[in-house]
Amino acid sequence: MENVIKVGLLGLGTVGKGVYRLLTGNAENISQKICTNLEIAGILVRDMKKPRGIPVNQDLLTDNYTDLIDNPEIDIIIEVMGGVHPALEYVTQALKKGKCVVTANKNMIALHGKELFEAAQENHVDLLFEGSAGGGIPIIRPLKQCLAANRLQKIMGIINGTTNYILTKMTLEGKSLSLSLSEAQAKGYAEADPASDIEGLDAAYKLSILASIAFNSRVSLEDVHIEGISKINERDILYAKELGYIIKLLGIAKDTDEGIEARVHPTFVPAGHPLSAVNDVFNAIFIQGDAIGETMFYGRGAGEMPTASAVVSDVMDAARNLLNGVAGYIGCTCYEQKPVLPIGFVESKYYLRLLVADRPGVLASIAYAFGDKGVSLASVIQKNTDKKLAELVMVTHQVKEQNLQDALKVIEKLPAVDEISNVIRVEGEKN
Ligand SMILES: NC(=O)c1ccc[n+]([C@@H]2O[C@H](COP(=O)([O-])OP(=O)(O)OC[C@H]3O[C@@H](n4cnc5c(N)ncnc54)[C@H](OP(=O)(O)O)[C@@H]3O)[C@@H](O)[C@H]2O)c1
Repeated sequence: MENVIKVGLLGLGTVGKGVYRLLTGNAENISQKICTNLEIAGILVRDMKKPRGIPVNQDLLTDNYTDLIDNPEIDIIIEVMGGVHPALEYVTQALKKGKCVVTANKNMIALHGKELFEAAQENHVDLLFEGSAGGGIPIIRPLKQCLAANRLQKIMGIINGTTNYILTKMTLEGKSLSLSLSEAQAKGYAEADPASDIEGLDAAYKLSILASIAFNSRVSLEDVHIEGISKINERDILYAKELGYIIKLLGIAKDTDEGIEARVHPTFVPAGHPLSAVNDVFNAIFIQGDAIGETMFYGRGAGEMPTASAVVSDVMDAARNLLNGVAGYIGCTCYEQKPVLPIGFVESKYYLRLLVADRPGVLASIAYAFGDKGVSLASVIQKNTDKKLAELVMVTHQVKEQNLQDALKVIEKLPAVDEISNVIRVEGEKN
């Protein structure tokens, strides 16, 4: 094969090394599939002296981005630096110079997708980002292409491996959140500062990307209601089991008649639901469409080689499109403008855990406050903790969030209520 497409790699960290390994190690296989050779023409790094741990040709390294962005021989830029700046500026310049861009940068795509797509469209080039949500799981191309004939109604996914690992340890091994987090950090699954994972921000970036594509309408990060797992404790895990549920951090987006729902929060998932069996660092995305019915995508949502698998497949697509003269043929698919509903409008069932005085009439006063705001209870369990206090565990029927919040404002002021310990949304039907 004589023809060659040159690529510039921005970043040689976790994902960048995986991309390098795949492009060099699977070169023969890749060129057979796309009928051209891919050649790495240069690699941008921050620190030229850093040991790389892989046999990379040192002559390819540069710490000057213009060596790649201004190189007319490079047709595809792979951005795996991370962070919004300067990645955004480098990618924008590359698009404006007529280069296709492949990125795994969820933060940049979630915050600046619109302007980047406009730049790609104006310059008739591809902007591909399969690795940005779901890591190695094919999900963006399936949403944009394989499921394009559907009107998609719902996306519900485990899209953060760190929190899924922690919740799995808490559920299957009875460990505390802090011990499970330390284990995740020791295994390299969690960052030294794990706040973005634990507080649900990482999942929210991914959900905003997935929901925008699924519902053909832009869902920004600010549109996503975000709650993390830091308030989940061993008691919630135990009560969930007792009630027939497993707690998972889910990203949930629905296209309803009133508008789009987009939220990330811990969720009671029925023990028989396919998502309840997704454990450790694995991710899964469950989708419902009017023609496909229900379908689920499962796999590794991060890591060097799984993410590189998504990135290099995008590079191969961009190369094919360049060869066929159709670069930029699938651009932005947000052609509608649907409203995104505030969380108060969302309907759900809820699990509630309250600490109350252990005396007659308390349950009746709480039930009255719920009933007054239109919240009806599906089940109530009372556990005595000591002589003075009892723990009430309740599950509501489906109700609008605003009604529940109004009822809780009244309940927290009742003299018999010591604390509202936790409120967790319940999704799906139990068999
Ligand atoms: N890691 C994963 O499992 C994963 C999964 C899905 C998506 N992603 C996304 O993939 C991207 C890369 O993640 P990563 O984990 O591979 O990051 P990483 O390990 O921190 O690597 C970043 C690389 O970019 C280089 N770099 C960063 N800023 C630079 C700058 N201003 N100028 C020049 N070079 C710069 C660094 O150079 P030095 O090496 O010289 O410091 C390093 O090689 C991120 O957007 C991330 O969200 C990662």
